[in-house]
Amino acid sequence: MSNILVGVTGGIACYKTAYLVREFIRAGHNVKVMMTKKAEQFVGHTTFEALSLYKVLREDNTPTPISHIDYASWADICIIAPATANIIGKINAGIADNELLSTVLALTCPLVLAPAMNTNMFHNITVKENIKSLKAKGIHIIDTESGLLACQTTGEGKMAEPDVIAKKVLNILNKEDIETLHIENDLLKDLNILITAGPTKEYIDPVRYITNKSSGKMGYALAEEAYKMGANVTLISGEVNINSSIPNINFVASAEDMYNAFLNHFNKADIIIMAAAVADYTPDFQHNSKIKKKDAEMELKLVKTKDILEYAGHNKTNNQILVGFAAETDNMEEYAKSKLVKKNADIIAANDVSRKDIGFDSDNNEITLFFKNGDKRNTGKQSKSDIAKIILTESAILLSL
Ligand code: CTP
Repeated sequence: MSNILVGVTGGIACYKTAYLVREFIRAGHNVKVMMTKKAEQFVGHTTFEALSLYKVLREDNTPTPISHIDYASWADICIIAPATANIIGKINAGIADNELLSTVLALTCPLVLAPAMNTNMFHNITVKENIKSLKAKGIHIIDTESGLLACQTTGEGKMAEPDVIAKKVLNILNKEDIETLHIENDLLKDLNILITAGPTKEYIDPVRYITNKSSGKMGYALAEEAYKMGANVTLISGEVNINSSIPNINFVASAEDMYNAFLNHFNKADIIIMAAAVADYTPDFQHNSKIKKKDAEMELKLVKTKDILEYAGHNKTNNQILVGFAAETDNMEEYAKSKLVKKNADIIAANDVSRKDIGFDSDNNEITLFFKNGDKRNTGKQSKSDIAKIILTESAILLSL
């Protein structure tokens, strides 16, 4: 038996919420209801009190000044049905100007929204962005249905039926609905994600080259996870020893090759993540035949390569999110922040490559994400796959803002 908190906001679909409450009660759960003033214009609070046997949390009649905290901490899950365009926007913005919204802000349990609105409102760009952003934040959104709406038009925006909502909510509670639980699985649906991975090789002659210790595991984890989340992934990779199911891998050798391959995909990418360890310097001259051993000393002149991340940062549009990495052995925060500015990235994912337990060739990593707005987030030590999910989710949130 679980504690289910049902939020009711002002829409004609309010009457269906009475059936939803009944479904939960019949399934043996405790239900408490909270209503906005507008919702009470459609259905009286006494209906919900009679069904749930608990006092309804109302805007003008709260049992105590901290009822919103009490209701929020009581809940194992919260479902708002119907969720109007107004409430969706306010939840996304973190506004708490009534009891229901204050309670939502205080929740620590899963939150599910069942939107209901007129078709044109549902297709409004801001409403769409709000829903996308809420999904990115891990809030569960129940698809609307198409049908005849209260405004006598037919189209999308009709609230799902009570039995459908009840099933989804109970599945989330029982951790059975994989699709809903892993809401981020379609978070990147249809987005173009461009990822660079692995080391580059700078040839001196046909048999000798300069490279680095990058295994490519972080970049490949990003590509695999982005692929699982529904993205169109383009991976530009140096030579690595990884078996991957990613269909579009462009293998390259040198930093210059990587730069050229990158240019082919840059413009159409929505999210760009530069996990490759690109050589900063390359021999100024590549010998066509093997250099023969001669003098006791030999000098090799190196010249700077093009900084691909910096190019991307200074040529991207406002609709592209750019993530760079900073592999550091010391002064991580200072260097990461200066790379954020110099390369005009949206996020710099910094890691300490001097640590033996993470970084190069390890399956684990610990990253601190530095954001353009000054925020920072440490992931703690986790598998590279889980770190990849965090980086992708944060990028998707930025893209939806
Ligand atoms: N990078 C790049 N092109 C280069 C060099 C680096 O795109 N020619 C990208 C890397 O993929 C990474 C970020 O820049 O996302 C930072 O790389 P890093 O090696 O940590 O820093 P550098 O800019 O090369 O500076 P330094 O080596 O001095 O730390």
